[in-house]
Amino acid sequence: MNKHVALIGGITGAVGSALARELCSRNNWEVHGLSRNAPTRPIEGVNYGQLDLNDQDSLQTGLSAFKDVTHLFYCGRATHAEQVLENAEDNLRLLDHLVCGVETVAENLEHVHLVQGGKYYGVHVGPFPTPAREEDSRAPIPNFNYDQQDYLDQRSKNRKWSWSASRPNTLLHYSPQISRNIVSTLGAYAAICRELGASLDFPGNPGAFESITQMTTIELLAKGIAWMVTEKSCLNQAFNFTNTDVFRWKHLWPRIAECFDMVPGSVRPLKLEEVMSERDEVWKSIAKKFGLKTSSLDQVANWGFADATLERYWDEILSHNKCRSLGFHEWDETETRFVHRLKQYQNSAILPT
Ligand SMILES: NC(=O)c1ccc[n+]([C@@H]2O[C@H](COP(=O)([O-])OP(=O)(O)OC[C@H]3O[C@@H](n4cnc5c(N)ncnc54)[C@H](OP(=O)(O)O)[C@@H]3O)[C@@H](O)[C@H]2O)c1
Repeated sequence: MNKHVALIGGITGAVGSALARELCSRNNWEVHGLSRNAPTRPIEGVNYGQLDLNDQDSLQTGLSAFKDVTHLFYCGRATHAEQVLENAEDNLRLLDHLVCGVETVAENLEHVHLVQGGKYYGVHVGPFPTPAREEDSRAPIPNFNYDQQDYLDQRSKNRKWSWSASRPNTLLHYSPQISRNIVSTLGAYAAICRELGASLDFPGNPGAFESITQMTTIELLAKGIAWMVTEKSCLNQAFNFTNTDVFRWKHLWPRIAECFDMVPGSVRPLKLEEVMSERDEVWKSIAKKFGLKTSSLDQVANWGFADATLERYWDEILSHNKCRSLGFHEWDETETRFVHRLKQYQNSAILPT
C-alpha cells in the first residue's frame, strides 16, 4: 500500500487533533501538522511545526520542510467571536496561503481536504430545508464555507490535485484543552447550578428543547475524512458527516442531570454569557471541593458557544445518504456518547462528579 504523507493545517484544534489521531493509528500515513502555538498535549507520531498562516513570508521558508506531502488537510479556523458570522476574508486567506505554499514545495500533492460544517446550510442563522443535502442551494448569507469551497474548486482545475470537503454538525468531543465544547460547557453549567442550590433548568430556547437535532462524534468525522480522501468516487465533492441518529434536548437533559445527581428542571431561557460571567468564584470553590485540575472557568466553558447552540429552535438534520451510498457506514448514538464524554470529563477531574 502506498504511503500517504499528511499535512494538517490547524492540527491542535478540535478537528485537527482528532484527525491526527486517526491517521496515526493507520500504518500507511505519515503525519505532520501546523499551528501557531505548540501543542499542549502532543500526539505520538506527529511531527509538529509552528507557523502563522497569515504570514506568507515565513510560510515560504517554513513550508519547505513539507516537500513530501501528498494530502493537505485544512482544519484551521480564524479567531472568531460567538454569535456573529465568521469572517470569510480572514478564513479564505489562511487557506489560500497554505495551499499556495504547499503547492510550491510539494510536487506530489494529490489532494486537498477542507473541513466545513453545518454552517454551510446556515444552521447558525435560522431554519433551513431539512434533511440538508450536499447539493442544496446555498443560503443568501456571507459564509466562509462557500468562499473556501469555491476557491478549491477553481484552483484545482488544471492542477494535479483533487479536493474534498466534509460537513459535520456540532462536534461531540473530549478535548480538555479546548473550552469551546458543548459537553464541558453544559457540565460546568450543571455543576454551578448544583453548587448554588438551583434546579437544572434548560437555559436555551423552548423550541430548541423540542426540536430534532444532530451531532457528530469527532472520531466518526476523522474516520470519514480518512475514507473520503482515498476513495476515488468521493473526489471533488462535499459530504455530510453526522452520527446519523437524531435527538431532542428534552430527552438528553434528564441524562445530563443524572450525571450530577440532579433532577432536571424546566425550560428557563438564559443568556449564559451574561449570567455565568459572575460565577468564577463559585467555580473556584467547586474546583477546591472536588480537587479539579483547573479553577479557571474559562478553560472549561464557552458560554457564548452554548448560547448559540441552544438558541436554535429549528430542526438541524443533515442527510447521510450520500456517503452511505458510496460505502461509509459508520454511525453513533448521540445521547449515549454525550453522557460518555461528560463522564470522561468527570473521571479526569475537569468536571466534578
Ligand atoms: N468545533 C465544532 O463544534 C465544529 C463543528 C462543525 C464544524 N466545524 C468546523 O471544523 C473546522 C475546524 O474547526 P475547529 O473547531 O476544530 O477549530 P479550532 O479548534 O478553533 O482549531 C483551529 C486550529 O487552527 C489553528 N490556527 C488558527 N489560526 C491559525 C493561523 N493563523 N496559523 C496557523 N494555524 C492557525 C489553531 O491553532 P493556533 O491557534 O495555535 O494557531 C488550531 O490548531 C472549521 O471549519 C469549523 O467550522 C467545527
